[in-house]
Amino acid sequence: MLKIAHRGAKAYEPENTLQAFQKALNLNSDGIELDVHLSSDEHIIVIHDETIDRTTNGKGLVNDFTLVELKSFLIDGKYQIPTLIEVFDLVDKKCLINIELKGLGTASKIVALIEKYISEKNWKYEDFIISSFEWNMLEETANLNSNIPIGVLTEEDINTALAFAEKIKAKAIHPDFNLLNIENVQQMQEKGFLVLPWTVNTEEDIQKVKSYNVNGIISDNPDKI
Ligand code: G3P
Ligand code: CA
Repeated sequence: MLKIAHRGAKAYEPENTLQAFQKALNLNSDGIELDVHLSSDEHIIVIHDETIDRTTNGKGLVNDFTLVELKSFLIDGKYQIPTLIEVFDLVDKKCLINIELKGLGTASKIVALIEKYISEKNWKYEDFIISSFEWNMLEETANLNSNIPIGVLTEEDINTALAFAEKIKAKAIHPDFNLLNIENVQQMQEKGFLVLPWTVNTEEDIQKVKSYNVNGIISDNPDKI
């Protein structure tokens, strides 16, 4: 049962910050989940929304700012928006990194960065899993490098996700936990996929999805898993 910290340990530190990822490591998480967009100068930026409005003291689209400009905005008055490279270097192979592709153009940049860490820094494909609700970006990832583990995100329909996962030879399916029952979890596992539901936070919901024998849980409070 993998304990995966959603946007870092979001229940304890501001989401998608180095502090949240460090907290996830301190809680012995097996993995962290994070979201990515590109800056205007094509750095991979770790942030959930397409704008910086909700999480920082700035306003505007992430991909309208350069990296240097993005670094000038603060989260909770003290933290900076991290780059994916900063997160890789913090994690340093200590846990799985689930990268959710949000922004356009992220797939090819992520594939190149993963290949660099594997060839130059001794990382392994198993250190990563790429997920997205934008399935065209998952297909692009699979076409660029079929060794990269992929998780198909769905909040709508398990059967459609299952068919797509088979098509692109994904490693996992990441469903909204409300879609799950013991039968469909077993069906996905029998087809060879890991089942990694999100975002499961209450003790009651954690117990429920555990009773379905899922392979892992993505949670704001991974310590409760
Ligand atoms: O990876 C699962 C979950 O992160 C998807 O939803 O909105 O938190 O990115 P969201
Ligand atoms: Ca996410």
